[in-house]
Amino acid sequence: MSHWKEILTILFCLAFCLRVEAIEVQENQPAERISGSAGDVLEDDPVGKLKVYVYELPSKYNRKKLQKEPRCATHMFAAEVFMHRFLLSSPVRTLNPEEADWFYAPVYVTCDLTSNGLPLPFRSPLVMRSAVQLISSKWPYWNRTEGADHFFIVPHDFGACFHYQEETAIKRGILPVLRRATLVQTFGQRNHVCLKNGSITIPPFAPPQKIQARIIPPDTPRSIFVYFRGLFYDLSNDPEGGYYARGARASVWENFKNNPLFDISTDHPYTYYEDMQRAIFCLCPLGWAPWSPRLVEAVVFGCIPVIIADDIVLPFADAIPWEEIAVFVPEKDVPKLDTILTSLPISEILRKQRLLANPSMKQAMLFPQPAQPRDAFHQILNGLARKLPHGDDVFVKPGQTFINWTAGPVGDLKPW
Ligand SMILES: *[C@@H]1O[C@H](CO)[C@@H](O)[C@H](O)[C@H]1NC(C)=O
Ligand SMILES: *[C@@H]1O[C@H](CO)[C@@H](O)[C@H](O)[C@H]1NC(C)=O
Ligand SMILES: *[C@@H]1O[C@H](CO)[C@@H](O)[C@H](O)[C@H]1NC(C)=O
Repeated sequence: MSHWKEILTILFCLAFCLRVEAIEVQENQPAERISGSAGDVLEDDPVGKLKVYVYELPSKYNRKKLQKEPRCATHMFAAEVFMHRFLLSSPVRTLNPEEADWFYAPVYVTCDLTSNGLPLPFRSPLVMRSAVQLISSKWPYWNRTEGADHFFIVPHDFGACFHYQEETAIKRGILPVLRRATLVQTFGQRNHVCLKNGSITIPPFAPPQKIQARIIPPDTPRSIFVYFRGLFYDLSNDPEGGYYARGARASVWENFKNNPLFDISTDHPYTYYEDMQRAIFCLCPLGWAPWSPRLVEAVVFGCIPVIIADDIVLPFADAIPWEEIAVFVPEKDVPKLDTILTSLPISEILRKQRLLANPSMKQAMLFPQPAQPRDAFHQILNGLARKLPHGDDVFVKPGQTFINWTAGPVGDLKPW
C-alpha cells in the first residue's frame, strides 16, 4: 500500500507538472503543426476541388423520416441528416449534374428507432435499394458507372451490411447495389467484409453545442491518470461473457478495478465531460463495434485516447495522424495497461497533448451547425476530392455489368 501511495504522489505531481509545463509550452508557441505529414491536409479547403450533385429524392427517403422520428437528428448516427443539410447549401453543390464529380442520394438509413431510441437498420436495405432503383431509372448517371461516382452516408454499426449483430452483418455483406459506390461510414475495421476498400471512415456524431457548453478552463490540472466510464460486461446480450468487446473491457475491469491510477466505473456521472478534461488518458476500448463516441470526446477534450481495438480503422485516417496523438494497446496486452501507460516518456505525453491542442484535430471530429472550416463535413469533402479525378475504370463499358440486382437475402428484394 505504501508503495502505491508513493507512486500516487509521484503521479499526481507528474500529472500536475505535466499539465503546467504543457500549458507554458502552449502559451509560448502555437499548437504544434504536423508539418510534412498527414496532419496538414486537415487544413485543406475543398471548395473548388469538387462538385457534388444532390439528387432530389421524394421526402419519404429523408425529411419525412426525420419528421416522424426527430430523435434521429440527435443520436450517434445523425451525421447522415446533417451532411444532407450541409450539402444543400454548400458551395461545392452543383445544380448541373453534367458537371458533377460526385453524385449524392440523401437516404436516411438510421431513422427507424425502437421505443428506447435504438436505431435498427432492418428496413434500410429496402429503402436503399428503392432509392437506387429510382435514381437509376430517372437519371442517366447511375447506369454510366453503376454507382462508382456516387457516395452514400451509411453510419450504422456495420455500415452498409445493415445489421447490428456482427455475425449477421458479415453473413449479409455490403448491400449488393452499393458494390461500386463510395461509402461514408462510422464503422472501420481492417479486412472486414463491412468495410470496402475506398470507403471514408467518419467520427460518430456527438452533440456539438452540448460539448462546447461544457469546456472547462484549459489550465485546469489533469489530476486523473486513466479515466473510463461505461460497460465492462453486457450481461443482457452476452450472458456468458467473452463476446462483448472480445473480452477487452472485462479484462480492464478485472485487472484494474482496485488500481488507484485507474478511475474506471460503470457510473455515468453528470461531470463526465469535465472529468475527461481532468484526465491524462481516456480509455477507448471496443464495444460491440470497434469505435465509440468516447474517441470523439477524448480528442475534443484533449485527453489522450488509449485505443484498444485491434485492426480499427479510425476516422479520416488518411488525414489525422492517429499514431501520433493516441496510444494503441493491443487487446491481448490489456493486463499490461498500467505498465504501458506509466512507462511512456513524459516528452511523448507532452507532445501528444500539444498535438491534441491543435484546433484542427477537434474541429475534424465534430459536425457543428452551422458548419465551420475544417470540421467533419469538410473532411468528408476533402476525402472525396482526394479520390479525383476518377479513373477511366469508373465508366461501365458496353456489355459489362457489376451489380447483380437479385443478389442478397430475398427479404431485401421486396419493394419499399
Ligand atoms: C438503367 O438500366 C436499367 C437496367 O439495366 C434500365 O431499366 C433503366 O431504364 C436504365 N436507366 C436509364 C435512365 O436509362
Ligand atoms: C484499394 O484501392 C486503392 C486505391 O484505389 C488501391 O491502390 C489498392 O490496391 C486497393 N486495395 C485493394 C485490397 O483492393
Ligand atoms: C445474381 O444473384 C442471384 C442470387 O444470388 C444468383 O442466382 C444469380 O446467378 C446471380 N446472377 C449473376 C449474373 O451472377
